[in-house]
Amino acid sequence: QRHVSQQQYLHGKKILISAGPTREIVDPVRFFSNRSSGKMGFALAEAAANLGAEVTLVSGPVNLQINHPNIRRIDITSAEEMFDVITDHFDQQDIVIKSAAVADYRPKFIHQGKMKKKDGNYTIEMERTKDILATLGEKKKHQFLVGFAAETDTPIEYGLGKLDHKNLDAIVVNDISSDGAGFEGDTNIVTYINKKKQQESIHQATKTDIAYKLFEWIIRDLKDDDR
Ligand code: CTP
Ligand code: CA
Repeated sequence: QRHVSQQQYLHGKKILISAGPTREIVDPVRFFSNRSSGKMGFALAEAAANLGAEVTLVSGPVNLQINHPNIRRIDITSAEEMFDVITDHFDQQDIVIKSAAVADYRPKFIHQGKMKKKDGNYTIEMERTKDILATLGEKKKHQFLVGFAAETDTPIEYGLGKLDHKNLDAIVVNDISSDGAGFEGDTNIVTYINKKKQQESIHQATKTDIAYKLFEWIIRDLKDDDR
């Protein structure tokens, strides 16, 4: 384990990281979700903890375990629950990284009993969830706010748009259409863009290596901002 003897660059910092998908319930047996595995967010939590930070990991349903004295894990299910937990903890944080794949829509009505099939097609009405990251962008004071953007088309363009619209300090863009990048895999291909529009790219590395690289740039930009 070559990462364990890291210097404590994040000592004294409180970091909140969100990871994994959310689940939006339809009825007692069904839900809408997405392909996020949580691996990138868990790698970030582990790296931050090894660098000395006090980490709050807010995770959707994932098949991952984490055990580190600096990490407090809070499990949630829906986008609404993630919103509540994150906004509750936001004031105390120094850095917030939103790597979770939050559902953009949820079923407007939850069926109390199991839905029964009928002849013909069926339409489920969906309503928008709240944008957690955009809400944090509006509320933020001293916090360094990092978003993720998983894209298939013109990733950098969309990433720059989200950086501005959500009032972020940095965005991590990944092109999920390339091999070796995206949801279930152990590797990723990312570009980190800060507020000055400086871009740093990592061409395919493990999610652990990417996590440490991202913290190098975050720490650099934190110092630059002189918070
Ligand atoms: N995000 C969030 N709350 C939501 C939706 C997204 O906090 N309801 C966050 C994600 O955690 C991520 C960032 O916003 O850090 C970008 O998510 P993404 O899905 O790429 O962008 P959206 O703004 O949802 O736009 P779209 O899905 O249309 O690309
Ligand atoms: Ca989205």
